[in-house]
Amino acid sequence: MKTSLKKELLKAKKEGYAVPAFNFDNLEMAKGILQAAEETKSPVILMVTESAAKYMGVEYVFALGKAFVENTKVPVVLHWDHGFDIQLIKRACENGFTSVMLDASKETFEDNVKMTQEIVAHAKKFGVEVESEIGHVGGKEDDRVSANGGYTDIQEAIDFNKQTNIDALAIAVGTAHGVYKGKIELQFDIIDKINKNVDTPLVLHGSSGVPLTDLQKAIKLGITKINIGTDLKQANANALKNWLNTNENGYDARMFGKASIEAVKNEAIIKIKAFGSNNKV
Ligand code: 13P
Repeated sequence: MKTSLKKELLKAKKEGYAVPAFNFDNLEMAKGILQAAEETKSPVILMVTESAAKYMGVEYVFALGKAFVENTKVPVVLHWDHGFDIQLIKRACENGFTSVMLDASKETFEDNVKMTQEIVAHAKKFGVEVESEIGHVGGKEDDRVSANGGYTDIQEAIDFNKQTNIDALAIAVGTAHGVYKGKIELQFDIIDKINKNVDTPLVLHGSSGVPLTDLQKAIKLGITKINIGTDLKQANANALKNWLNTNENGYDARMFGKASIEAVKNEAIIKIKAFGSNNKV
């Protein structure tokens, strides 16, 4: 069932948990995510990145997205993740997405504000909510790779939030997208300070591979949306490799598809329980 991003995040903040935000790249991954949410009675944010949508076919994703939301028994936020193409973000607003993320975090502060304001104005016409990023979470995000340009500046987060009227704010506090190469050092003091000065719910990107205890500490300090992509991609890929290795003569996509759904579901359930969003609906 359809729900609002901000409503879910504010409820999570009040009750001390985080809503899991999972990326899907194909039908099996989406099914695994939604089954995990239903089995654990958790609200869920089902996200598709711009390049994943292009891979699946943007029109197909619009149609599938509506069907996912309508046919799931727990609240689902359908979220357009890391939008770079303004026209595509606008189309997502017009085609059933609950919320959209503009990623102009590599632009100057002024341009990021201006572009975010443009998306907010468009999104509001369709009752769609907006997430935007201040500071830059580096690493590998889909087909883009970039260095982590530094942590979010606290004053910039406050100013950006005031000037943009967004519904969720993504901050850069030490995580990176993709598989970690170095040690993860989450900047808990920055999360704490931003949370004390900004009412808008805070989002952590690049959360795969981060110890669950660190994520739980971040939740206590005010993070309410936690983005997970790579951990599900790896669960999916490992399940497929295993299946094909143990079924040398196998060829039926429905059989290895089942293994894929199950693996993604199990990984999503681990995150849901760690974030405390189970039994919240
Ligand atoms: P990971 O792939 O590192 O989990 O990051 C996902 C993400 O932040 C999507 O927006």
